[in-house]
Amino acid sequence: MGLAKHLLRVFVDTTVILGVILFIPGFPPYNSLEPFTATPPLPFEGALDPKDYALAKAEKLFEGEIVGPECLEVSPVEPDVFYTTLQGGAIVKISDNGKKMKAVAKFGEKCDGNWDGKNCGRPLGIHFNYKGQLIAADSYLGIYQIDFESGQVTNLVNKDTEVDGKVAKTFNSVAPARNGKIYYTVSSTNYHLDESVGEMLGAPSGRLVVFDPETNENKVLLEDLHFPNGIVLSPDEDYLIFAECLRYRLHKYYVKGPKAGTSEIFLDGIPGSPDNLNLSPDGNIFVALVSVRLPGEFNPLEFMYTQPLLRKLAVRLLHLVKFPFDFAAKYVDLPILRKIASHIMNFETLLPVLPPYSMILEVDWNGKIINSWHSNLSDVRFFSDAKIINGYMYLGSPYNDYLGRIKMPDSIHFVKQPVFSLG
Ligand SMILES: *[C@@H]1O[C@H](CO)[C@@H](O)[C@H](O)[C@H]1NC(C)=O
Repeated sequence: MGLAKHLLRVFVDTTVILGVILFIPGFPPYNSLEPFTATPPLPFEGALDPKDYALAKAEKLFEGEIVGPECLEVSPVEPDVFYTTLQGGAIVKISDNGKKMKAVAKFGEKCDGNWDGKNCGRPLGIHFNYKGQLIAADSYLGIYQIDFESGQVTNLVNKDTEVDGKVAKTFNSVAPARNGKIYYTVSSTNYHLDESVGEMLGAPSGRLVVFDPETNENKVLLEDLHFPNGIVLSPDEDYLIFAECLRYRLHKYYVKGPKAGTSEIFLDGIPGSPDNLNLSPDGNIFVALVSVRLPGEFNPLEFMYTQPLLRKLAVRLLHLVKFPFDFAAKYVDLPILRKIASHIMNFETLLPVLPPYSMILEVDWNGKIINSWHSNLSDVRFFSDAKIINGYMYLGSPYNDYLGRIKMPDSIHFVKQPVFSLG
């Protein structure tokens, strides 16, 4: 009888504590959470056939010298030179067929390590505009413009800019248009990049925004998106495609024409979380899946999506664990406190439990998957961008300590890169 009583006591106490955690008011997540069901992943057949697992043979460049080369952008004037964005805050230029690397910009200041993104800065999406200036989204610090000729760096959208009552917490990707406007994604207006598990389990708070440098104004085009990420304008700039990373889909947003201002689903059921979008040599869209969901396998995150009460409980527990470290760090200048806090709600902390798999898709402008490249190795994954340069497919990643690349078949070598003219 003693044991039964004891168990009952534990059960009642746990229920009361969880109930209190769930129902105390004035604690995040502040928005109400809705259940939803993600479209199941498309089967690995046809264009999604893994074929020879080409990515598994990736060569690792700059191994141990860099962390997290997230986005890849080719120089508009030198087609075999490209740029990438690193943990620690630097934007680097890579030349000599992937042999030479040089830091060319950094928006943050002195910091205590790669985990210290609020101080280091953490550039993610970069894209050259039609004047040859590099437009960059630093996840913590805002949108910047770099003029490499004059050396001038301009903060176009400040991190504290309030747009429609909210501040962007995670700037992600940019698409500069010919008319000077810059379309960009804000992955979260609730959480910083190192707290993205909060955004994952909480209420979607991401946005699609356009910035007009002539008026200095930001306009929200879409909101309540679940971690919007990569973005690319169509060749005629009459619409754009962007990734809704945590909902496994791509959206099409009309910029011009009779449907201007409206959006529709472009591709759903993606077998993973789409990150950056980049152009393939044929002018199609490379979609890098930073994490993969395998058809027919149980996905804990998709299960959580259907359970708002569990999500709320998980988010509150994470906040309860993180709070003392954030609080103490305000009064004691010990980097270790901020370092621990930066790991508690960090997606990077979950990497070891993700499937040992990676994938790059090539999607045409009708939203049809036409090709894919796979890796089934645990140390060759988490790819966030793909770009073919000089006969190699380079593979960016927010987390890897190397820049990956695979050699492409000869037929690809002779396709001219879409380099645009300046002026
Ligand atoms: C990856 O796929 C290749 C080709 O099918 C296979 O030979 C290899 O055993 C696989 N590796 C793992 C770790 O599953």
